[in-house]
Amino acid sequence: MNVRDAVFARRSVPSFDSTVTISESEILDLLNAANLAPSSMNLQPWEYVVCHSPESKVNLQQVSYGQKKISEASAVVIVLGNLMHHENASQIAAGNIAIGITDEEKAAKFVQSAASAYEQNSQRQRDEAFRGGSLWAMNFMLIAKDAGWETAPMGGFIPEDVQKAFELPDHLLPVLLICIGKANPEVIIHARGTRISAEKKVRFQ
Ligand SMILES: Cc1cc2nc3c(=O)[nH]c(=O)nc-3n(C[C@H](O)[C@H](O)[C@H](O)COP(=O)(O)O)c2cc1C
Repeated sequence: MNVRDAVFARRSVPSFDSTVTISESEILDLLNAANLAPSSMNLQPWEYVVCHSPESKVNLQQVSYGQKKISEASAVVIVLGNLMHHENASQIAAGNIAIGITDEEKAAKFVQSAASAYEQNSQRQRDEAFRGGSLWAMNFMLIAKDAGWETAPMGGFIPEDVQKAFELPDHLLPVLLICIGKANPEVIIHARGTRISAEKKVRFQ
């Protein structure tokens, strides 16, 4: 499937086949592919919790307005934005030295730039956490489609309650839930909702 085909074929599935399972190794493969998403300074401001067991899906459903898709899906990814993503810099710098695309001096400067860009700027931390988490999420949905899975993104959850239920530290903010699984064959997927044309939204300058 090429990227255009995946974009045209992806839909938010209204109901999942609850008999279908997905393995941890397949989820990890999709997570690693989605990690190729771009991010500011390559600081990768995303983390995730994968609700894989029936118990964790029920816990998530309880803080997501009871949305049924959560318990039906094979797994649900809680996409998180990491406010402290500048702290990833040393690990990334060390990796870049190991693969020979930077040296010690440049790596040290990179770590310093990451800290000065984000450490004292909470608005910037939050903007980047949501921007990066969202780019990661779209990548994940397209990669899943290509691998034969359906997805459903969901913003209908109570962030503070998700944070409490999954014992998330304050610097990890829930950005989006993504259900993944196979579509329930008994539920019709209606035609895609109207998209406002680019001609109506664009301003060329
Ligand atoms: C940020 C975001 C939040 C959403 N929240 C929900 C949700 O809580 N529940 C739901 O059933 N669908 C949710 N959706 C799915 C949208 O309704 C769906 O993407 C939209 O109707 C377009 O349909 P399509 O994805 O099939 O093209 C959400 C989608 C996005 C991107």
